[in-house]
Amino acid sequence: MNQTNAVVLVVGATGSIGRHAVREALHQGYRVRALVRDIGRASSLPKQAELVVGDLTIPDTLVAAVDAVDAIVFTHGSTTREADVRDIDYAGVANVLLALRGRPARIALMTAVGTTRPGVPYAAWKRRGERLVRASGNDYTIVRPGWFDYNDADQRRVVLRQGDTAQSGTPADGVIARDQIARVLIDSLSADAANRRTLELAVETGAEQDDLTPDFAALRPDIPGALDGVADGNITPVRSEPRRFQEDLARIGGEPH
Ligand SMILES: NC(=O)c1ccc[n+]([C@@H]2O[C@H](COP(=O)([O-])OP(=O)(O)OC[C@H]3O[C@@H](n4cnc5c(N)ncnc54)[C@H](OP(=O)(O)O)[C@@H]3O)[C@@H](O)[C@H]2O)c1
Repeated sequence: MNQTNAVVLVVGATGSIGRHAVREALHQGYRVRALVRDIGRASSLPKQAELVVGDLTIPDTLVAAVDAVDAIVFTHGSTTREADVRDIDYAGVANVLLALRGRPARIALMTAVGTTRPGVPYAAWKRRGERLVRASGNDYTIVRPGWFDYNDADQRRVVLRQGDTAQSGTPADGVIARDQIARVLIDSLSADAANRRTLELAVETGAEQDDLTPDFAALRPDIPGALDGVADGNITPVRSEPRRFQEDLARIGGEPH
């Protein structure tokens, strides 16, 4: 996607990653629309960002947010309570995709390392949000960052992994700075090599790369039509998923999987 005049909607723009994503997208030359619940909380966002008020749990409020957008970056989040992740993290993805009414948009979705862990109810709803993005037919990159800002100052070298095999639920699964997560999300929008990739994101000791294209290009793309990341395990058949997800999938994905 060409940055010039392209409109990027940042979901979760007042959050700890979203604030960086707004700045990074402006820096890369995009027109930025910031979805905020509360204008007061958005006062420290750059003046160049257009503010649009909406609540991810109230679908009608999202229509204006997605109007004429070229790309959407999801950085929102709630707690680790299953009901919160279902009703905010997951529903936010579903409601924004539905608000598009089939219009294409490039998607960058942030979830978390360990999203495919078995027996973790809130993670399962994060994963269902990922599945909706893959099923939506849009171009996308799904980014599962490690633990925010647990990196040491000399750890800036970006590492992209697949398979979500680090599942201790501790920083041993990966660490990364918040500004770097935002950079990877925004970089992915214009990188063909990042399209239809699902990746875990961490850093190791060393300097940050100027260009992540070779790192994106080394990843395997997701299989067309598949709901899960190309290297993901612990796959749940759609028939065993909650009815709510099955209904959203039918509305967003069209064809049954
Ligand atoms: N912490 C970690 O190490 C780590 C690692 C990997 C992944 N993650 C994931 O990162 C996610 C985001 O974390 P964070 O620390 O950046 O969160 P945060 O700072 O609390 O930001 C959350 C954002 O979501 C927005 N939001 C929440 N509910 C909303 C709603 N109903 N409508 C519209 N916007 C809404 C918030 O808006 P308001 O400002 O209006 O509240 C805020 O902008 C978490 O859910 C977690 O799963 C975290």
